[in-house]
Amino acid sequence: MNLPNHIAIVMDGNGRWAEQRHRPRTFGHQAGVRAARDIVKVCAQRHIRALTLFAFSSENWNRPVGEVKRLMDLFLRSIEREVDDLHRNGVRLRFIGDRTAFSPDLREGMARSELLTAANDGLQLAIAVNYGGRWDIAQAARQMASEVKAGHLDLDEISETNLARRFCLADFPEPDLLIRTGGERRISNFLLWQLAYTELYFCDTLWPDFDADALDQALSDFASRQRRFGRTGKQVKKVGNA
Ligand code: IPE
Ligand code: IPE
Ligand code: MG
Repeated sequence: MNLPNHIAIVMDGNGRWAEQRHRPRTFGHQAGVRAARDIVKVCAQRHIRALTLFAFSSENWNRPVGEVKRLMDLFLRSIEREVDDLHRNGVRLRFIGDRTAFSPDLREGMARSELLTAANDGLQLAIAVNYGGRWDIAQAARQMASEVKAGHLDLDEISETNLARRFCLADFPEPDLLIRTGGERRISNFLLWQLAYTELYFCDTLWPDFDADALDQALSDFASRQRRFGRTGKQVKKVGNA
């Protein structure tokens, strides 16, 4: 079966999952962490090379203060609780997004877990926190502009390739498959540039219920797609058979 090298997931539906159970939204976020932990394991077992999980968007600060605070506490506790296990399983962990808004404790926890797992060559796991696709493009543009200003880069060296080198996920292949759970069919400011040719898969399953079977369904749907990248179906078949 043709497997994606890089899967990106918008883990949506925690709040509704909790509401269905007449529990506070945080209960759903806790269940969401467990689902994420399980999906990381399944991806490693399926030999997926890279996985990017959208955990907190730059717009999620607009949520009620209490929910944001509980999410931050949950991030910190989850990192502390899970990192050793991830490390044992050869996962290399990294966080993408603007960290300046986080507490020193959380920033330290992130840095420590990245350092611990930096040499691992198993599943490459990126967790997007305070991430926005527009922010990522803007910070890459700012880097380039300052290099031009300093005389390290010529204006005519500004190209798609050179800009892409400055994105948070520059060393990951572009996502082959984007999964969004929770029924909404939108990108919500996730990896805007990188999704240009990604196969999109939307499902109604709420994130805490997204399990190995649900992932396998997404993988088999992906395997049935023909990726043409602008060419004709016939051309792609020829290349495929060559
Ligand atoms: C996704 O679940 C988790 C975060 C955005 C932090 P939601 O909290 O958005 O769940 P719904 O969409 O309200 O059900
Ligand atoms: C997208 O979910 C962000 C994450 C899953 C972290 P949201 O629930 O925030 O998206 P919208 O607001 O419904 O578009
Ligand atoms: Mg949501």
